[in-house]
Amino acid sequence: MENIGRGNFGSKIGAVLAAAGSAIGLGNVWRFPYETGANGGAAFLVLYLACVIIIGIPLMVAEFAVGRRSRANNFRAFPLLGATGLWKYVGFLCVLTGWLILCYYVVVQGWTIEYVISSGANGLANKTPDDYTADFSSFISNPVKPLIYVFLSIGITLGVVLMGVQKGIERASKVMMPMLFIFILVLVGCSLSLPGAMKGVEFLLNPDFSKVTASTYLAAMGQAFFSLSIGMGCLCTYASYFPKEANLFGNAFNIAGIDTLIAILSGLIIFPAAYSVGIEPGAGPSLVFITLPNVFYQAFGSIPWLAYMFSLMFYLLLAMAALTSAISLLEPATLLIHEETHLRRRWSALLATAPVLLFGVACSLSMGIWDEYKLFGMNLFDLFDFTTAKIMLPLGGLFTALFVGWKMDKKALLSEISNQRTLPQWLIRIYYSLIKVILPLAIIAIFLNELGVFSL
Ligand code: PFF
Repeated sequence: MENIGRGNFGSKIGAVLAAAGSAIGLGNVWRFPYETGANGGAAFLVLYLACVIIIGIPLMVAEFAVGRRSRANNFRAFPLLGATGLWKYVGFLCVLTGWLILCYYVVVQGWTIEYVISSGANGLANKTPDDYTADFSSFISNPVKPLIYVFLSIGITLGVVLMGVQKGIERASKVMMPMLFIFILVLVGCSLSLPGAMKGVEFLLNPDFSKVTASTYLAAMGQAFFSLSIGMGCLCTYASYFPKEANLFGNAFNIAGIDTLIAILSGLIIFPAAYSVGIEPGAGPSLVFITLPNVFYQAFGSIPWLAYMFSLMFYLLLAMAALTSAISLLEPATLLIHEETHLRRRWSALLATAPVLLFGVACSLSMGIWDEYKLFGMNLFDLFDFTTAKIMLPLGGLFTALFVGWKMDKKALLSEISNQRTLPQWLIRIYYSLIKVILPLAIIAIFLNELGVFSL
């Protein structure tokens, strides 16, 4: 199969770690808590978990299978596996979605860099919860400062992609993820020790299904797609680098498991702290940024240097997690341009990045001076988020599932997913019924439910 000067991962675990690096990012620590907060808490979590199990894991396996079988970029993968007519463009839709996500992802990535710098300069110390809220809103509505961080985020992401697959992505993923995990565990302990923390735990873990509306389903599904990095061809692209022996099911379970665990742990940091200092759980995109400094400075307040070190290290790791995800958002578009036009990788990455700069700036300004320009009641940032996470990702996932279930050669699929024929038959049967029928029906039902055609 076509293999134009493709990079390769140095170790087997490298490609898998990079896929985990893609999944674990701002989606877990930033987006999950704010979507959970805005959608009523524990009931959202239950729907989210259902989406991860019924839609997320099977689809991740499907994307892995398409990528490793074709050993090609997402755009070319589908035709190589026999797609004709409109099916040929499924891969393109996926790559486009990821690229659009990157346009606003770099904005939040920029916010994490600002918090690295401001904790480094001891700018988070000696403040009240109200100060944190006021500081954050004055920062994001500033017409210049966040833009500098958008440039910085794009520059760093591009830099790593230009360094190539192996060196850049693998090295970063290997070290940072376990460290982030340990920091998160410590922070959960700190947050739970704050006065009044149990109310937050209850909000996250004690479901009240009367709060579920049609949009809760859509939000839970969108969050599952976003957080697991599915429906946009990024995992497919990474799987095109997977070694033959990689166990696709095992990897999907592990990645989805760790990703979900980190999201829930992040919730266990944010909500107890939010309740403890009186911040609304539905505060939206600002939630993590106004809650976390309280955790650092209330839990470690009596030992200022510890609070300082901890907040600096945490934001650094969060910025790194955002970076590994941003790389994965840029990589599919870069590879598509590189392999389709035969342009050098360097030029392909630059070409893929240039428009991100433009939209990134517009999304950033829409949180401040351009906030009054709205479409369907949303500013540009929210519009990008809504359209990509809640519409385009699920559509990409739906088409991928239909293609893999109904169009892809069954033997080829089986040889990819059966893990050298070691996978039990019953599991394969369950997988087929999920990918062919249950998963597509679930996605369609959630869409129809949102449109009010019927009620789930
Ligand atoms: N999964 C990443 C996160 O949770 O931050 C974001 C993301 C990366 C979404 C790659 C989609 C994607 F393809």
